[in-house]
Amino acid sequence: MAHQVRISPSILAADMLNLGAELESVSNADFIHYDVMDGDFVPNISFGPGLLSAVKRGTDLMVDVHMMVSNPDEVYRDYLEAGADILTFHMETAKHAHRIVDEIHRYGRRAAVAVNPGTAISSLDAIIDHLDMVLVMSVNPGFSGQQFIEHTFTQLYKLTALCRSHAVRPLIEIDGGVSAKNAAQVVAAGADVLVGGSAVFGAPDHARAVEEMREAGMRGLAMR
Ligand code: DX5
Ligand code: ZN
Repeated sequence: MAHQVRISPSILAADMLNLGAELESVSNADFIHYDVMDGDFVPNISFGPGLLSAVKRGTDLMVDVHMMVSNPDEVYRDYLEAGADILTFHMETAKHAHRIVDEIHRYGRRAAVAVNPGTAISSLDAIIDHLDMVLVMSVNPGFSGQQFIEHTFTQLYKLTALCRSHAVRPLIEIDGGVSAKNAAQVVAAGADVLVGGSAVFGAPDHARAVEEMREAGMRGLAMR
């Protein structure tokens, strides 16, 4: 992949009436972040697999699907069938995490696990060897436009230490309250993929907001 710091604009913050144009406006990004919310695991309802098929038709970028659902074991196949390139489920919800990861890999896709701000990084110990990416939530999931939780830095230090101790290097994605203002800091602390919802789609020029986040992130790489 071209960039060492990857930007994943979250279409939760996009204008749904103009989704095709919104996707085109961030074609300089690396991934498209697709938030699935079920109104049970998180207090909001967003998109399902149907819209994902449409999004796949509207972008050439890899689609990074973040399932915030209580029953990932029952629904993950729907998102693989709809074309998820990277599929993330929450550690707090999976009954059989290894089985989901194996199945994602059988489809030839990338597997990721997410942890909420209140979830211990040590809960990833048994699965970390098998993951392509770990998503660290930097807000309590459910909404775009929330404030970044500072405890995320502790989560990142613990996660990078866990990865080192297992001699693995999954991508680390940060989701929630990330912008060009804190991108350098989160990348310096270990993040490789930055999700941007309001920071990208709330900006007047989306492509420029992507570039600004990436440039700030690159400065963080130099601080590692
Ligand atoms: C929050 C979602 C995020 C959200 C990020 O629960 O998982 O992906 O869209 O939005 P911002 O970047 O505005 O915090
Ligand atoms: Zn998300």
